[in-house]
Amino acid sequence: MTANLPFSQACENNKQPILSVLQKELKDSLHVLEIGSGTGQHSVYFAPRIAHLTWQTSDVVNNHASINAWHAAHPAANLYAPLAFNLAHDPVPVNKAVAAPYDAVFMANTLHIISWPLVEQLFNLVGGVLPAHGKLIVYGPFNENGHYTSGSNQQFDISLRQRDVNSGIRNFEDIIELAEQHRLILNERYAMPANNQILVFQKLLSD
Ligand SMILES: C[S@@+](CC[C@H](N)C(=O)[O-])C[C@H]1O[C@@H](n2cnc3c(N)ncnc32)[C@H](O)[C@@H]1O
Repeated sequence: MTANLPFSQACENNKQPILSVLQKELKDSLHVLEIGSGTGQHSVYFAPRIAHLTWQTSDVVNNHASINAWHAAHPAANLYAPLAFNLAHDPVPVNKAVAAPYDAVFMANTLHIISWPLVEQLFNLVGGVLPAHGKLIVYGPFNENGHYTSGSNQQFDISLRQRDVNSGIRNFEDIIELAEQHRLILNERYAMPANNQILVFQKLLSD
């Protein structure tokens, strides 16, 4: 039953092709942290379809009621209730009921919402928490060398910046450079429908 639950169309878009990438990229992962779980729609779709791992949701506390409502309507044994995580002031949250450390982090449609200092903090935190070979998987639109990849992305970026001057579609090259500063190296890049992409970073072994 999904009627009356908070609903995001952006979250519904492309969830099947995103799942196909996650099933491939997370086949060896055991404990995934989702950052910015939003309404919770992605988590209830992905977790039961990648059932060998645990899916830990997280977001700012304001979104927890929605995530919990989606989990109640679509329970899955490997789906975990949201942890409070505000990139502005929290460390990476840990679920004490799960012994395993995170070996992958997933985030969708969020790099263009948070400010650049929070993007930097995100890579700092994720780079610090992932073990060697751990993966960071990011879904959303990106610019190329400062240029929009489509007219629809340009319109989207204008609307984002009108709502919040600190948000906006990020430059692919800036993200790669930032990730490398935290030993997260681009491993795979998937073109996704509607001019979106999935970037898969893998944590380097330490020196
Ligand atoms: C556009 S929504 C994307 C939600 C979901 N991942 C999706 O694909 O539909 C952006 C998400 O970023 C989260 N967010 C914004 N600021 C944040 C912060 N400071 N710390 C953590 N998450 C934040 C929002 O709460 C929201 O869940």
